[in-house]
Amino acid sequence: MKEYILAIDQGTTSTRAILFDQNGKLCHMQQREFKQYFPHSGWVEHDAKEIWNSVVEVVQSLFTIDNIQSQQIKAIGITNQRETTVVWDKTTGEPIYHAIVWQSRQSQDICDELIEKGYSPMIQEKTGLIINPYFSASKIRWILDHVDHVNVDNLLFGTIDTWLIWKLTGGKVHATDYTNASRTLLYNIHDLKWDEDLLKLFDIPQNMLPEVKASSGIYGYSDETLISGLHFRAPICGVAGDQQASLFGHACFQSGDIKNTYGTGCFILMNTGQEPVISDNGLLTTIAWGIDGQVTYALEGSVFIGGSVMQWLRDGLQLFQNVSETETMAKSLQDNEGVYLVPAFVGLGTPYWDNDVRGTMFGLTRGTTRQHIVRAALESICYQSRDVIEVMQKEANMALTSLSVDGGATQNEFLMQYQSDILNIDIVKPSVKETTALGAAYLAGLAIGFYQSQEDIKKKHQISKTYHATMEPQKALYYYQQWQKAIQATCLFK
Ligand code: G3P
Repeated sequence: MKEYILAIDQGTTSTRAILFDQNGKLCHMQQREFKQYFPHSGWVEHDAKEIWNSVVEVVQSLFTIDNIQSQQIKAIGITNQRETTVVWDKTTGEPIYHAIVWQSRQSQDICDELIEKGYSPMIQEKTGLIINPYFSASKIRWILDHVDHVNVDNLLFGTIDTWLIWKLTGGKVHATDYTNASRTLLYNIHDLKWDEDLLKLFDIPQNMLPEVKASSGIYGYSDETLISGLHFRAPICGVAGDQQASLFGHACFQSGDIKNTYGTGCFILMNTGQEPVISDNGLLTTIAWGIDGQVTYALEGSVFIGGSVMQWLRDGLQLFQNVSETETMAKSLQDNEGVYLVPAFVGLGTPYWDNDVRGTMFGLTRGTTRQHIVRAALESICYQSRDVIEVMQKEANMALTSLSVDGGATQNEFLMQYQSDILNIDIVKPSVKETTALGAAYLAGLAIGFYQSQEDIKKKHQISKTYHATMEPQKALYYYQQWQKAIQATCLFK
C-alpha cells in the first residue's frame, strides 16, 4: 500500500488536503471554500468552527472519494493563512469571537496609538515587523476589549495552525511553530521567546499564548475518534505559515534563495540564512523556519495588487471574459508602446509605503486598445516585483541569479517571460504547483524520516520550466526606468 504525507493547507479563502508521496509527488487533493464575513467596511472575519469543519470535510473526502486508508497516512503537515487570530475558551472549546483575518483593519486605532507614542523602532528591533493591524497582537487586544468573558485565565490564543493542532489533538496540544509566532508582533525573533515588554505593551496575558516549537518535529497525534468510523491516528509533525512553507516547498534552503507567489497580491521571501537582516525600507524580517534547534531567517516584501489587477480588468472594466485570454492579448503587441498602469488601488507597499496614492495610467493615445491596458497590467506585476526584489538584494547584500515562482498567475507565459526579462534572471517554475502544501509535507516528512534530509529533498525537487531572459538588458532597464517615472508621477497626484 502506498504511503503518504497529508498536508493541510488552510488558506484565506479555501482549505485543501493534499497527499504527497515519498518523491514529493502530489497524488490526491481535496478542496473546499468557506464563508468570508465582512461585518463592517475594512473588516474581514472567518468562523473558526467553519474553518475546522472544512478541514474535517477535505480530510474525510480523501478517505471516501479517493479511497485512501487511514494507515496509508504516515504524518500530517499543517500550513496556514498567517496572522489570522482566534481566541477560544479552553473548557468549552468555543471561540469567543470570529477569527479576525490578517486583512482586517478593525484594530487600526490600537496600532495608531502605539505608532504615535513612538514604539515603532523598539517593536521592529524585537520582532522584525512594523506596527500594523495585519499582525496578531492588536487583533488579540481588540477581542479582549470587545468581548465579554467571565475568566481571562481560561482563554487561549492561536493563529490558525494552533487552532487546528488543538482541534486535531482533541484539545491536548496548544502550540505553534517559529514561523507563525514570528507574525504575531509579540515574539522576539532574536531571543526566540514571547517578549515580556510586548506582552505588557499590548496587555496580553502570557498564559493565553501557545508553546513555540520547531517547524519540523512532533507536536502530537490526531485524535482517532475525530473522523467517525476511521482509526486515523497520525503524528502532526510539520507546521509553518503559508509563505514560509512555500519557500521551503521551493527547496530555497540556501541563503539568497528567493521565491515569489503570484496570488491576489505577490508575496516575496528571501532566505537570509542564520542572521536576521533588519530593513530600512519597510521589508519585514521574519523566521523562515526552525529545524533541529537552528533558526533560518527571511526578508519579506509584498505587492498589494498582483493577480487582482486582472480581476479588475475582467469584472470592473470588462476587457475580457476569462483571465486566460490575457496572455494572447499581451503578446499581440510588440511592446507596451509607452502605456503604463500603476495599480495603486489601495496605496503602494514596499518600498514606497504610501497609503494615500491611488491608481493611474500613463501614455494613452487615440490608438490605445484593450490589449495595451492588459499588457500594462501584466507588466505592472513584474515591475512591482522588481521594486521589492531590488531592495531585498541591496539590504541582504546578495545578488540573485534565479527566482522560484508559484501561484495561479504563473500559468501566464507572457508574465513569466517578462518577469525574467525585467529582472534579467532565470524564473524557475516547479513541477508541483501546490508549493505551499508541499513545504508543509516536506517539514512533516523530515520529522519522521519519510524524507531523509534537506539534501534529499533538493534532489527530488523537480522543475517544470525555466524562463531565461531574452530581452536586451538596456531595453529592460529603459522600461523599468519609465515605470519608475510613472510611480513618481503617481505619488504626486493626491
Ligand atoms: O500573511 C497572509 C498570508 O499568509 C495569506 O496567504 O495564500 O492565504 O492569501 P493566502
